[in-house]
Amino acid sequence: MSERRALVAANWKMHGSRASNAAWLSEFIAARDGLTCEAVVCAPYVYLQQLRDQLTVGQVGAQDVAANTAGAFTGDVSAEMLRDCGCDWVIVGHSERRQWHHETDQIVALKAERALQAGLRPLVCVGETLQQREAGETMAVLSAQLAAILHRIGVEGLLRGGLAYEPVWAIGTGRTATAQQAQEVHAALRAQVQQGASGSANALRIVYGGSVKPANARELFAQPDIDGGLIGGASLVAGDFLAICAAASV
Ligand code: PGA
Repeated sequence: MSERRALVAANWKMHGSRASNAAWLSEFIAARDGLTCEAVVCAPYVYLQQLRDQLTVGQVGAQDVAANTAGAFTGDVSAEMLRDCGCDWVIVGHSERRQWHHETDQIVALKAERALQAGLRPLVCVGETLQQREAGETMAVLSAQLAAILHRIGVEGLLRGGLAYEPVWAIGTGRTATAQQAQEVHAALRAQVQQGASGSANALRIVYGGSVKPANARELFAQPDIDGGLIGGASLVAGDFLAICAAASV
């Protein structure tokens, strides 16, 4: 980590209930003092208002946003609506959206743009599959994903949010990228951003996601280009998420 303030985001995915969220939030708020990282909790849409009402410290994020602004799009939620409900951040381009909802690089980029237009901060995810890694295509895949984003929102737009490197093979598998593997990719992503705007890539926060746990967080976050984490499974337990936030607060 560097002089960039660490960012740690919980991605609850499709988990939670009003009762379990309330318990999580009380535990988190009670122990939050002393943590210096920026903490964001990304919950299912229906719980965002509950988070906004109860999360007096920390920020609220959604896990997706519509690519359209308004209209006949049944089931979609616009960036303006998220902002209206007090949301600060939104995850875009998570590999589960790319895989199960067929989101292309172009759709992901459009969603990031919609988020920015509404005043939300997009946390843009990129990542390669195991097959792509084994075929030696990791950097080509990531570079194409990042290029689509930069083409639409530019470095300035990306700087208003953040970038998350999430190797698909490490998500929910218990198989984390080594700190060296992740650092290598983060440095390459930063170099690509740097080409688009000299100097400002230093300010970009690039977080790592994929089986981050209290036991491996410190080593990952100690890398010079890893500025925090996007935490799935381990974020469901408030104590584990707090421990990961503490590892990013040193
Ligand atoms: P995981 O998920 O921490 O459960 O691997 C990370 C993510 O998908 O954002």
